[in-house]
Amino acid sequence: MKLAVIGAGKMGQAIAGRLLEGTYLGPDAICGVSPVAADRDAFASLGGSTPLVTHEEIAPALAGATVALISVKPQHYPEIAPQLAQAGPELCFISIMAGITLEALESSLGRSRPIIRCMPNTPLLVGQGAVAWCANSGVKGEQLQLADRIFGEMGTVVQVDEPQLDAVTALSGSGPAFFFRIMQHLIDAAMAEGLPEKTARLLAAQTAVGSGALLQQAGEEIETLIANVRSKGGTTEAGLEAMESEAGTLEAILHKTIQAAAKRSRELAKP
Ligand SMILES: NC(=O)c1ccc[n+]([C@@H]2O[C@H](COP(=O)([O-])OP(=O)(O)OC[C@H]3O[C@@H](n4cnc5c(N)ncnc54)[C@H](OP(=O)(O)O)[C@@H]3O)[C@@H](O)[C@H]2O)c1
Repeated sequence: MKLAVIGAGKMGQAIAGRLLEGTYLGPDAICGVSPVAADRDAFASLGGSTPLVTHEEIAPALAGATVALISVKPQHYPEIAPQLAQAGPELCFISIMAGITLEALESSLGRSRPIIRCMPNTPLLVGQGAVAWCANSGVKGEQLQLADRIFGEMGTVVQVDEPQLDAVTALSGSGPAFFFRIMQHLIDAAMAEGLPEKTARLLAAQTAVGSGALLQQAGEEIETLIANVRSKGGTTEAGLEAMESEAGTLEAILHKTIQAAAKRSRELAKP
């Protein structure tokens, strides 16, 4: 198995770095491509004492590759697609580009070409990513197994229907930035109530991690989980009342946030 990372930028490096921490792929099985020298250097150094091979051009990376990960910005895809299309028909592509559809990928890379679209997110850096994927009919069982192993190293994996990927992009692809913004406000507010920044940051992060884990594992409705914290006349009730007092402001803001990100994902799909 050889993986070529086409676009060795932030996400390409994050994914390669994560894979190297697992047992599936070693430094000799991953190479990267970027026109940017600093990105190539950072990518190479992920291999530690065995620097990863990097290329300025795409063709040498595709030679001998089993899977090619397309991790350039969607805006750059049209300029690299003709070079990717030169690869042998068996090469399986995994695209993480927001908004570029399987139809668009097939029309530029070949109709019978195995292609997987996936939407990862940056918490994969610590093995806590969320990955959603879908595949075209060219992908065979063995390639699905390869992809499954790659995604499995990143975190939680779900298969979705392609039309759902815009919502996925908004919720879990862009989502870490939304949660970070919310946590930043909570930390600032706790500091205003007298907590040192370090303590506020630690408690905010652990509360987010713990609440997420509880939601995943408890199998209860969110309203039940809230009710378990809230008691009549207590602190949580006071906080929730303040949070919800301004005629659904939080709900409206979060709906607008997800709608805007999903809309942008659909726009990126348009030529
Ligand atoms: N960031 C996230 O949380 C996230 C989550 C899910 C999916 N994604 C998707 O991941 C993709 C990459 O995002 P990113 O944040 O990692 O972007 P990035 O840091 O800009 O990385 C893209 C890399 O591809 C390189 N590149 C550009 N043109 C190229 C070419 N012709 N040949 C080879 N490499 C080329 C870029 O170089 P230049 O600097 O010269 O452009 C850069 O090194 C995007 O499509 C995005 O939709 C991102």
